[in-house]
Formats: sequence, structure tokens, C-alpha cells
Amino acid sequence: MTEKVHLRRTIAHPRAMQELQTRSIKKEEAMSTTLRWYGHAAIGIDTSGYQLLVDPFFTGNTATTQKPEEVAADYLLITHGHGDHVGDAPQIARRTGATIISNAEICTWFAKQGLKTHAQHLGGGFHYPFGYLKMTYALHGSALPDGSYGGNPGGFLLTTLEGKKIYLAGDTGLFGDMKLIGDEGVDLAVLPIGDNYTMGPDDALLAVRLLRAKMVVPIHYDTFEVIRQDAAAWAERVRVNTPTQVILLKPGDQVSVE
Ligand code: NI
Ligand code: MN
Repeated sequence: MTEKVHLRRTIAHPRAMQELQTRSIKKEEAMSTTLRWYGHAAIGIDTSGYQLLVDPFFTGNTATTQKPEEVAADYLLITHGHGDHVGDAPQIARRTGATIISNAEICTWFAKQGLKTHAQHLGGGFHYPFGYLKMTYALHGSALPDGSYGGNPGGFLLTTLEGKKIYLAGDTGLFGDMKLIGDEGVDLAVLPIGDNYTMGPDDALLAVRLLRAKMVVPIHYDTFEVIRQDAAAWAERVRVNTPTQVILLKPGDQVSVE
């Protein structure tokens, strides 16, 4: 672990510290982050008292029992335009008033539906009340459910207020620049392993090597027959071949990011 990475982890952004002071949240809550997997690519992140929902696909997601009308959200993060990622976002955003964060094309599509958005684009980051969020690129497609152009697909690199880094790869094939993302010092990487539409187990293992994250959570598998995988076997390969700890979640389970 380099000194640079260590410093980056321990020094929080001034605006973030201000944010912590102005919100009346408990100290433990202010300095904790948990990540919940709802099955497929739907992720809930609870960080410093903020609820982030990533790719909130519940209706038609056979892996979850979560009802979209009951889930909490302050922000919705959408990696790309495909139906199994946009999911129930319009309905959830309308009910909760959550801000949708995605690329400019997808945000325009949501804004036309009268929803609140914050557009970013690949390589760009922004300091939100919950932390710093950068859009990373992904090798995939991004057409929206109605066929509209959804721009380029992406992923997200979140730096929480407490300085933890979570990499959400989105739907992607393997790419060598994951090494650069790894250079930032990733605490938790969330990677697809399903194959067919995204990286499969072999490439996801290479991705783990490039990212050198402390922990990895595999997603985007078993939802459909074509992406069925033996996640336990993959976890064992990661254990044998890398220092990264695999967290195998069942849909609904959560992990604390430490
Ligand atoms: Ni996709
Ligand atoms: Mn997908």
C-alpha cells in the first residue's frame, strides 16, 4: 500500500466534513457504509445516512422479493440504458423524489419524464452530499428501453465521506484500465461474472487482479439461464489466486464496507 493511497483514504473533502457537521445524524451512522445486493445488478448503498440505489431493477427480477414501491432512495445511480438496469427507476424517482445520476443522454431521457437528474459523463466526478462520485467507462451497450439513444455505458467509482472507495463496474467486458482504477485504492469492487452479456468468471478473475480491491462482490449472474454461474467455484479461484476477499451475497444480503 503506497503512502499516496493511505493519505487519500484518511483526508476527507472539506465540503464532506461540513456536510457531516450540518446533518443531525449519529456519529456511527455518519461513518459507516453498507452495500446490499438485491439480485442481478440492483445494489443499495447506505452511506453516512444517505440511501443510494444502483440499477434498481425489481419488477421482473426473479432474484428479489423487494417491492419497488417500498424501497428508500435519495439518489438513483444508473450505469446504462438497458431495461435490467433502468428497471423501476422512473417509478421510484417519482415516489421518493430521488435525484437520478447517470450520463447526459440517460438523464435527458429521465428529465423528459419530469424527474430530477444530475448528468455526468465518463471520467467526470462530482462532490455530492454523500461523497465523490466519478463515472467510469464500460465496454457494453446503452440503448434505453424505448429504443432511445442512451449514450455510452458506464460504471461508478464512489469515494464515501469516510474515504472508502467502492467500484461499481456496471455491465462490462474486461478492460486493462481497471488497473488505473485499482491504483486509486479500491476497498470494494462490484463486478459482473455472468458471462454472455458481460465478463464471465475467467475475465472477472483477471479484473480482480487488475483492481487489487480489498473485497469483491460478484453480481449479474443466475438471474437468467444464460448467465447461470457457479459463484462459489469462482470465489474459490479468487481466494487461491489473489489476496482479494470474495463476499458472496445472497439477494437481500448486505456487507459492511470496512
Ligand atoms: Ni446491459
Ligand atoms: Mn445487464
